[in-house]
Amino acid sequence: MTCRICTAPVGEVLDLGESPPANALKRSPSDPEDSYPLVLEWCESCGNLQLRDTLSPELLYPGYRYVTPDSPLLGAHYTELLSYLETGGYVGRDSFVVEAGSNAGQFLAHIRPSVGGVLGVDPAEEISAMANEAGIPTICAFFDAEVAGEIAGTRGKANLVVARHCLAHNPSPHPMLAAATTLLTDTGYIVIENAYAIDTIANAEFDQIYHEHMFYFSITSMRALLAQHALRLVDVMLAPVHGGSIVFVAARAGRGPETAAVGELESAEADVLNGAAMARFARQASETRATLRDFLAELRDRGKSVYSYGATAKGTTLLNYVGVTSADIPYCVDSTRLKQGLFLPKSNIEVISEERGIAERPDYYLLTAWNYAEEITSKVRSAGNLTSRFIVPIPSVRVA
Ligand code: TMP
Repeated sequence: MTCRICTAPVGEVLDLGESPPANALKRSPSDPEDSYPLVLEWCESCGNLQLRDTLSPELLYPGYRYVTPDSPLLGAHYTELLSYLETGGYVGRDSFVVEAGSNAGQFLAHIRPSVGGVLGVDPAEEISAMANEAGIPTICAFFDAEVAGEIAGTRGKANLVVARHCLAHNPSPHPMLAAATTLLTDTGYIVIENAYAIDTIANAEFDQIYHEHMFYFSITSMRALLAQHALRLVDVMLAPVHGGSIVFVAARAGRGPETAAVGELESAEADVLNGAAMARFARQASETRATLRDFLAELRDRGKSVYSYGATAKGTTLLNYVGVTSADIPYCVDSTRLKQGLFLPKSNIEVISEERGIAERPDYYLLTAWNYAEEITSKVRSAGNLTSRFIVPIPSVRVA
């Protein structure tokens, strides 16, 4: 196989077996479903991490149900991100901001009072309708060159193009970047936010690997990618969301300067982007699988009840890699109304509301949304459930 950023040959890092599309929740456990290989590869030449097998959008996104949760952690992140973009001069009161993969418009709603105008583009029908109902103008489409050209023609070019947690959702990152470049003014900025590959590998977050995540970006690989689109990296910011994320700020080549943060963080990447670290990551994944399997079997033997918490895409990878089914965990608790009453792919675990899941007080929750550990734990406790314990699976299994 070859690198889909730079075309050099790539090597295999980790094979997680066959997994269903991670967000393909089912109406009934007997609904047909397919599983596809989940194999992570690494390009030693440009540092890119990618999935070997990529699924088409038609397979991945029918009935897409990921609605960005209404979370204090994310709210704080939007505030911090806006202030970082303002301080850096990347956005201002007159900026026209277009966001690709804008979901229900949560980020745009947050920044709208501080900028000139906002427009979202998101392919999920139900979710872009939610954005429009909430007053965030949103085009229901994949963000491609055609849509970018239409927006530029009808509304003008954008001073800021934002792509948060969606660039990696494409089999190739090139068309979306080309579209962003078409839409951008000559002095504008592109902001790309993604789970940071360095955190994914260093913290053994193997459950970040699922079919929607076709790339795992670092500064090293992002530099290689941007250069192919006559763009350059000018700034980066780390963010404590989604298990450790990075915000890349890019401008047209020739603009700049590059902040010191870029070089400082990039020089540390070599400690993780190497063969030994990749081998350790694969070993940790298999250790977590063994530990979790044994622990769940022990709890079952002791007659303890276990629910999972968070009907996440990460959870689909984790549950299927470990081999968990509804016989081990009957229910998954999740705040997303669109997910409740449905069944997790392959494991067939039924999704129930937080109210019910918290009130039923299982002995343990397996925290499949471990990235919100603090807020979920305090939500459970402040709702009066003082007894359920939490199994945190990443970076290694522990009980809290
Ligand atoms: P994410 O990690 O991909 O953002 O998904 C988080 C999931 O966890 C999402 O389906 C919503 C759910 N969730 C809760 O059920 N309760 C919470 O308090 C939070 C923050 C998220």
